[in-house]
Amino acid sequence: MTTVMQAVEIAAFGPPEGLRLGERPVPRPGPGELLIRVAASGVNRPDVLQRKGSYAPPPGVSDLPGLEVAGVVEAGDSEAMAQAGLRVGDRVCALVAGGGYAQWCVAPVPQCLPVPEGLSDVEAASLPETFFTVWSNVFDRARLQPGETLLVQGGSSGIGVTAIQLARARGATVIVTAGSDDKCAACLALGAHHAINYKTQDFVAETRRITEGRGVDVVLDMVAGSYVAREVECLAEDGRVVIIAVQGGLQAEFNAGLVLRKRLTITGSTLRPRPVAFKGAIAQALREQVWPLLASGAVKPVIHSTFAAADAARAHALMESNAHVGKIVLTWTT
Ligand SMILES: NC(=O)c1ccc[n+]([C@@H]2O[C@H](COP(=O)([O-])OP(=O)(O)OC[C@H]3O[C@@H](n4cnc5c(N)ncnc54)[C@H](OP(=O)(O)O)[C@@H]3O)[C@@H](O)[C@H]2O)c1
Repeated sequence: MTTVMQAVEIAAFGPPEGLRLGERPVPRPGPGELLIRVAASGVNRPDVLQRKGSYAPPPGVSDLPGLEVAGVVEAGDSEAMAQAGLRVGDRVCALVAGGGYAQWCVAPVPQCLPVPEGLSDVEAASLPETFFTVWSNVFDRARLQPGETLLVQGGSSGIGVTAIQLARARGATVIVTAGSDDKCAACLALGAHHAINYKTQDFVAETRRITEGRGVDVVLDMVAGSYVAREVECLAEDGRVVIIAVQGGLQAEFNAGLVLRKRLTITGSTLRPRPVAFKGAIAQALREQVWPLLASGAVKPVIHSTFAAADAARAHALMESNAHVGKIVLTWTT
């Protein structure tokens, strides 16, 4: 087996051109890990933040960007693999804390899932980061229940298209915000019940109108900043807001009286630094409750575009243009 691989490195923090194809040693799987020959690597907004120098990998994790991959198992800890029902030669997708933009990638066995029946490598590589994040935040932390209403800020994002489909499949009413009428239409086509163009409409007034004054039960927020005060306004009694990003700013000022009166919960989380056991538990839940929906086609990967890995800079530039709906994926040939 070859010992040297191609990988997309961050040669300089800053604009997309700082990404370049380089050579690295093929990583070796340790205890509890397996080695994947990567066919496709998903691109996520946190990769852009890492490239800019504002989202360092957790200690001990590869400095290469990339939080999700799909490919074929080539080697690994045979006992851990047997426990997980995985074998050399299996097609898998995996959530990783870094190192995904490479021809080979090591992943903890509990964070690997079989490629859902009928899905391509590109489709499979688009799943882990958003499905783990949405599951953990919307269903575990914010406890969205069937019959409740979810407001997804950024409905056309990779996270958003996953949240729309999962929440709808689990019996929730889904309202999204997006920055253009075309993006709103795309969200509706994916199953959102209502879409609000946040550039031309006020999401507080619109959610009140849609819910006939009751408010929404859960908000999935990737904006924060001034949005938090408005989300506190548009939540129903016992509502929950779960913050997963701070694109609109770190500081928030809101009416604490509303938090008391409506018994609101403001929470949030970030997936990357969480331990393997935590991510493994999410993987198990996804395998049982979501993978059948992917296999049946009830929930679909949403691929906006693919790029050869050598063109990773173009993929990042596209993501930063915000012109995409759904996921951007890099492909490898080995
Ligand atoms: N906490 C975690 O564990 C975790 C894990 C993964 C990702 N994330 C975060 O989740 C976010 C989405 O990630 P992604 O990979 O799916 O990125 P993405 O596809 O690039 O999506 C970013 C989205 O943010 C939307 N947006 C920006 N400003 C907005 C505003 N004021 N109101 C509503 N929407 C707004 C953009 O939509 P418009 O063009 O419509 O504005 C765009 O669709 C990122 O901020 C990422 O860092 C967090």
